[in-house]
Amino acid sequence: MGGSLRIGIVGGGGWLGGSIAASLLDAALVQPHDLSLSYRKEQPQRFTGSFWTTDNQHLADRSDVIIMSVRPADWPPLLVDVDGKLVISVMAGVRLGQLAEHHNTKRVMRSLPNAAAEVGKSYTPWIGSADVTDQDRAIVRAIFDACGTQDEVASESDIDYLTGLSGAGPAFPALLAAAMMNDAVARGLGREIAQRAVTSVLIGAGRLLERRDEKPADTVEAFLGYRGTTAAAIEAMRAAGFDAAVADGLAAAQRKSVSMGERS
Ligand SMILES: NC(=O)c1ccc[n+]([C@@H]2O[C@H](COP(=O)([O-])OP(=O)(O)OC[C@H]3O[C@@H](n4cnc5c(N)ncnc54)[C@H](OP(=O)(O)O)[C@@H]3O)[C@@H](O)[C@H]2O)c1
Repeated sequence: MGGSLRIGIVGGGGWLGGSIAASLLDAALVQPHDLSLSYRKEQPQRFTGSFWTTDNQHLADRSDVIIMSVRPADWPPLLVDVDGKLVISVMAGVRLGQLAEHHNTKRVMRSLPNAAAEVGKSYTPWIGSADVTDQDRAIVRAIFDACGTQDEVASESDIDYLTGLSGAGPAFPALLAAAMMNDAVARGLGREIAQRAVTSVLIGAGRLLERRDEKPADTVEAFLGYRGTTAAAIEAMRAAGFDAAVADGLAAAQRKSVSMGERS
């Protein structure tokens, strides 16, 4: 990309904004003095050497790329004129057209990272407006590669769908883990042992899938092929509506993402 990027993160004091900032600094994609972050109530005591402000217009004026990371409900009153600069939104629901109009630029990107950005393991789908340049695309790729992995997708409706699928990050594995733990404890297993067992299963599953680059469906088929205890469990879970429950949940998240954009 060449040259040092000046990056501003509106809402940099929040969970996701702070995680992105930490990843960018770790990857040396931005120098501390070229990173601006805004907060509303209390300045976080982190990223010393970077520029903290409550003035979002000032942040935009001293940055080349502005990342919008406030909650969707806090975005409509956020009046920042970026005067043609690149805006990258990580906000659920807010559309490219709304971002362009609101911030006075044709160069906008809509993305949807997840909470694993905190540990450099986010999956981030993104899409740009018609006016983004190849250089803008390279910047977005570099930013989200620093936070994990990323993909450019074909349409905004893909982002709405992925808001549920990957934007939830650890939420659905945690839902499964909580259900497993509740069952284990209800059957008399100690809470500590149950938690260690369930957490180890999740971490092990993630590492195995990553290392083998295996299709999840192949893993399921392999266990079904053994015709053992796991196959019995998978068949009972499916008979109870596991796949349909997941599809219903993802559809609900997609509807919510679309409706959030309609309200903004
Ligand atoms: N967290 C996730 O896993 C995740 C995943 C995908 C997408 N997102 C998106 O990321 C965005 C941020 O989420 P989050 O989880 O990081 O929320 P968060 O922790 O509440 O962070 C939002 C931050 O924005 C600050 N803020 C609000 N209005 C501001 C303003 N006018 N000027 C400066 N700062 C302002 C808030 O400050 P105060 O606390 O002082 O009000 C808060 O620190 C959301 O739009 C969400 O849809 C989050």
